[in-house]
Amino acid sequence: MRKIFVSAALTALCLAAGAQTPQNVLRIDVDAPGIPIQPTMYGIFLEDINFAADGGLYAEKISNRSFEYDNPLQGWKTFGKVEVRTDGAPFERNPHYVRFGYQGHPARTSGLQNDGWFGIGYEKGAEYKLSFWARTAGKAKEVGLAGILCNPVGPVENQNMALAEITVKGGKWTRYEATLTAPETLEKGAFRLLLWDGDPQAAVDVEHISLFPAETFHNDENGLRKDLAQALADLRPGILRFPGGCIVEGTSLENRYQWKNTVGPVENRPININRWNYGTFERMFPDYYQSGGLGFYEYFRLAEEMGAEPVPIVSCGMACQFQNDPAWKPNCSMEDLQSYIQDALDLIEFANGSPKSKWGKVRAQMGHPAPFNLKYLGIGNEQWGEEFIERFVPFMNAVRAKYPEIRIIGTSGPYSGGEWFDDLWKEMRKLDVDLVDEHYYSWEGFYEKRADRYDNYPRTGPKVFAGEYACHGSDGKKFNHFNAALLEASFMTGLERNADVVVMSSYAPTFAHVEGWQWRPDLIWFDNLRVMKSCSYYVQQLYATNKGDRAVPITVDGKPVVNANGLNATAAIDDATGDIIVKMANVNPYSQVVRFVLPAGVKAAEKTSLHSDNPMTENTLDAPETIVPETRALDWTPVADPDNAWLLGVRKQKDGNIEYSERLGGRTFAVYRFHRN
Ligand code: AHR
Repeated sequence: MRKIFVSAALTALCLAAGAQTPQNVLRIDVDAPGIPIQPTMYGIFLEDINFAADGGLYAEKISNRSFEYDNPLQGWKTFGKVEVRTDGAPFERNPHYVRFGYQGHPARTSGLQNDGWFGIGYEKGAEYKLSFWARTAGKAKEVGLAGILCNPVGPVENQNMALAEITVKGGKWTRYEATLTAPETLEKGAFRLLLWDGDPQAAVDVEHISLFPAETFHNDENGLRKDLAQALADLRPGILRFPGGCIVEGTSLENRYQWKNTVGPVENRPININRWNYGTFERMFPDYYQSGGLGFYEYFRLAEEMGAEPVPIVSCGMACQFQNDPAWKPNCSMEDLQSYIQDALDLIEFANGSPKSKWGKVRAQMGHPAPFNLKYLGIGNEQWGEEFIERFVPFMNAVRAKYPEIRIIGTSGPYSGGEWFDDLWKEMRKLDVDLVDEHYYSWEGFYEKRADRYDNYPRTGPKVFAGEYACHGSDGKKFNHFNAALLEASFMTGLERNADVVVMSSYAPTFAHVEGWQWRPDLIWFDNLRVMKSCSYYVQQLYATNKGDRAVPITVDGKPVVNANGLNATAAIDDATGDIIVKMANVNPYSQVVRFVLPAGVKAAEKTSLHSDNPMTENTLDAPETIVPETRALDWTPVADPDNAWLLGVRKQKDGNIEYSERLGGRTFAVYRFHRN
């Protein structure tokens, strides 16, 4: 009895509150021609930060596989007699190799152990392909080696989970292979390669020790970790921006990203210290280097496999401006700029040139005779100042002269506004670049209030590439909490509403290893075995998978739905299905009634919601599905009494339109799909 009383009282209260609640009548102009939403609109930013590539997406399990880190044995533990050598190395750009020698007693062994990055993850039943280059070095003509998937941490009787014996024959460098199957799952395994020979005559030289899962994304050779690449593909990206980010620039020009070092046989790709090795003093990772294994060929291939446009960003001859005092002369001279320009021209030839051309031939020899159809090129990352413009102009002119079809992406610097931003935009307009890269890692207030950011941008001139953005919670809330994702969703309504201005976007950064991050928040977190999609990931995915073809006006009280009672919304039409797609964020903690005015032909609808009662909740690797989108069909049965305004649901209006009303939960991002066919 008491229960009934309380619930009746609550209903009365709600009704009373409802009486004062704005009704949020949302009108969608489905007959408007609308603004085309470009296929490139929602994309991915990939940079090797947070162990995103080496130690992450790149499926290689062995760190420092070519013994080229500054300390050639970094990442390796040695047994017995192991010597680093350079004489007679097989790969000139990776000159170090190791020699395992007789260990002084037939019962002893020499060899190496590698712990990968934060351990090596093995999965029960999975096959791993071991390969290395070797030659005999002692008097013995044949030398036995053992490759071992190893459990160095568990309280086990036998650390050797799987062992393959390989006989090295002769003194000529030869590639050896073996396949090993992991009998159990282990997050922090290791790999050992041991001289398995008690012969005092035995010695062997070894180089480029590599261990890959047999199964990679699309089963590519030199491929990508399947779960991580699949998470990318599931975002249905329109573009893939690579390779960064700051690593494009380098701390000094010597360690900028040089694409030519990342193509051709992997054994001969020189390594580069990763800028994020020492990028922040608070979180340093001495074993963070770029192997170049996930190089430009692999980036182009990944873009193609995902159906995304490749968007490479190249160095414009300026090292990271944040890390350099101009007095240190961090930029290339104007004479040297030509070599940077030539690198960019060669890149276009690598991507698009005929297999008969110099760089097209390299691509073809790597297995892709067809062009990659490169259309965009970013010149510089977060650059600013006169020294940038001085370099950018001849750079752009040279690319345009040779490849007028390539669309040039300029930059607006590191911030969302301010003097550098304004000056750069002025210059970019003057130079008539095709797109301008904008970056905004901003706090909650920006994302909550600035869904109108592009409403008043000029409609002519360069388009916007929102190339790096993420909501960074203030007051220490720098993690992937739900509220950040909700505010991003809310802000993104403004990207889509202004699809004539904004034609590309990518959240950044994308990946982070839970033990190896330097920067957060990030879209996707992982450890050696598992992957976790953040709430921000689901926001990106919901936008990309419900993109629609044309943005059409959606209004409340005759105005765009921007900060309207905490609501932000955008509407689009899917031309193939006729679906009307509404994306709407309610950033208020409380729910509110929303009333959609829809054309007569709407026959059914569904709604996908992303919601959390607690804005500070996040997904974790242990609980990756704490907050996930939920889809349900909306009840399309007309309400019993259409004249009763309190009844929510579907009702036919006198003019033939359909009204659909419901209570949209507080702190909710919702995607409505209204079906007309
Ligand atoms: O995404 C992380 C970093 O943020 C990028 O490397 C850089 O471009 C920006 O400052």
